Amino acid sequence: MIETERLILRPWQEQDAEDLYTYASNPEVGPPAGWPPHTSVDNSREIIKNVLSKPETYAVCLKDGTPIGSIGLHLNGSTDMTDRDDECELGYWIGKPYWGQGLIPEASRALMRYAFEELGMRAVWCGYYDGNEKSRKVQTKLGFVYQHKTEGLEVRLMNEIRTGHCNLMTKERWQKVELFRKQKNTLDTFRERNAITQAQYDKSLGDLRNLMEMHGVE
Ligand SMILES: CC(C)(COP(=O)(O)OP(=O)(O)OC[C@H]1O[C@@H](n2cnc3c(N)ncnc32)[C@H](O)[C@@H]1OP(=O)(O)O)[C@@H](O)C(=O)NCCC(=O)NCCS
Repeated sequence: MIETERLILRPWQEQDAEDLYTYASNPEVGPPAGWPPHTSVDNSREIIKNVLSKPETYAVCLKDGTPIGSIGLHLNGSTDMTDRDDECELGYWIGKPYWGQGLIPEASRALMRYAFEELGMRAVWCGYYDGNEKSRKVQTKLGFVYQHKTEGLEVRLMNEIRTGHCNLMTKERWQKVELFRKQKNTLDTFRERNAITQAQYDKSLGDLRNLMEMHGVE
């Protein structure tokens, strides 16, 4: 189990089928990620048993334990993005009522920390299909670096051919991104508490931005 400020990530259970169906039956959720909407609570239960039971796959839950989305690391053998054992692919979705609150970026940061620090990964890949601006923005926010696009990708579950875009986060870059994010948070806290003046904040933020630019982290 992984805990973040607002979320708990824990393995899926068969009892989650109803909640899963509530969110995964929405046609705006699965298709952009490459899978069809769930058709019934029983269908969701089957998917928990056959798909969401894979290693390193977690229900994204509110603190009261209610599942509202899913996140996972696809390890070697279950991703086309890499054939290395020390690299994996991040995948995620969240129910529509929860969009736009930064919850998937929060869950992703926690899972990437786990991937790099506990699983010993050297890189995490993440992709999105052409036109999925929401997911593209998540990956930019997380600090991923664009690699390439692939045309003619077969999306088997949707019986479609799409263009895919591929992003990469190395462990080295992740360490820098996290360090800068924590420093920015500290600065914001100081300003909120009036511990520094606006001029001091602007100066420090400018210095931090310059440092980030020097390290290629936007
Ligand atoms: C992509 C997804 C996981 C983003 O999760 P999230 O927790 O909402 O992420 P964020 O809060 O950072 O929002 C990401 C972007 O979504 C867009 N967005 C936010 N709320 C939205 C809403 N209610 N309606 C439409 N778009 C919205 C915004 O562009 C936002 O970027 P911004 O913060 O820079 O403005 C979520 O939209 C989702 O599950 N989509 C369907 C499944 C999917 O595409 N999965 C990824 C496959 S690669």
